[in-house]
Amino acid sequence: TTFHDKICRSPKTELHVHIEGALTPELMFHLAKRNNVKLPYNSADELRAAYSFTNLQSFLDICGVGVSVLITSRDFYDVTMDYIQHAVSDNIVHSELFFDPQLHTHRGIELTTIIDGIERALIEAEQKYNFSSKLIMCFLRHLDEQDALDTFSRALPLFEQYKHRLIGIGLDSTEQNHPPEEFQRLFARAREHHLRVVAHAGEEGPPLYVKQALDILKVERIDHGVRSVEDELLMKRLVDVKIPLTICPLSNIKLKVFDDMKKHSLKQLLDSSVMLTINSDDPAYFGGYLNANYLAVTDAFHLNQNDIYKIIRNGFEASFIEEEKRQLLI
Ligand code: HPA
Ligand code: ZN
Repeated sequence: TTFHDKICRSPKTELHVHIEGALTPELMFHLAKRNNVKLPYNSADELRAAYSFTNLQSFLDICGVGVSVLITSRDFYDVTMDYIQHAVSDNIVHSELFFDPQLHTHRGIELTTIIDGIERALIEAEQKYNFSSKLIMCFLRHLDEQDALDTFSRALPLFEQYKHRLIGIGLDSTEQNHPPEEFQRLFARAREHHLRVVAHAGEEGPPLYVKQALDILKVERIDHGVRSVEDELLMKRLVDVKIPLTICPLSNIKLKVFDDMKKHSLKQLLDSSVMLTINSDDPAYFGGYLNANYLAVTDAFHLNQNDIYKIIRNGFEASFIEEEKRQLLI
């Protein structure tokens, strides 16, 4: 078998994937019809043609249109199950999925509707495919902290009800001009409730935002963090304290964080011994699920078997799987 086959067949984790970003054009049109929602595109192909992004915001704008078809618990089940099918065929054995409740509650969808649907799919995946998973509730940075705090308070009973699945919070959406420090109280509250904490930082934003996520939000992992290479001291700190980065190579190219894969900072991060992982972010929008991301960086940087095994192993080590279970998976 070829090296590519070996990579594809290896059991892997995925630690950075958004459920809303797993909504394929086909499923979007199917749900639009089922729910009588009018989309501003005539077909899945026409929609796909609109997926030429200039930056993070241009993606967030289109993604916002897409989520309007998610209304019932069954819709959230369907999009989660669609992702699971892809994940299983990419040999992912454990995923930590983000969802953005505010994208839905602000359209009048109940929190329980969202989580019930997602949870049904995840339980079925566990039974059918032995697929392990955790859920992380993400908050939108372009809205203010009070909105996040209100959402968090309303979600508290769900963190209790689903405590083995819904294990933490994250921070996403527009990064520029929305520094992590604005969400200090939210993250302090989450930590008081013994939740795991992560944040998107250093995707489009400066290394300062990565430092704020670590110092002020006290996150355990950085989502993206690819601009950390611009700050030598921060790089040393990431290595010394072993802070995992969840890197999404195809996402970074599609959203023009780097002009092309050869210019991606992943190689420099790897050579500096930063604990990085490879993930798909919003696979239905960025042209590839997890294996496609692995293969793209393998080819761009001529990565060898040691590099790949190290990255795959990092994924298991950086995951929030229970310690007893982690030993069984590795
Ligand atoms: N960055 C910020 N917001 C997002 C992302 C991302 O990579 N994916 C989905 N929402
Ligand atoms: Zn993301």
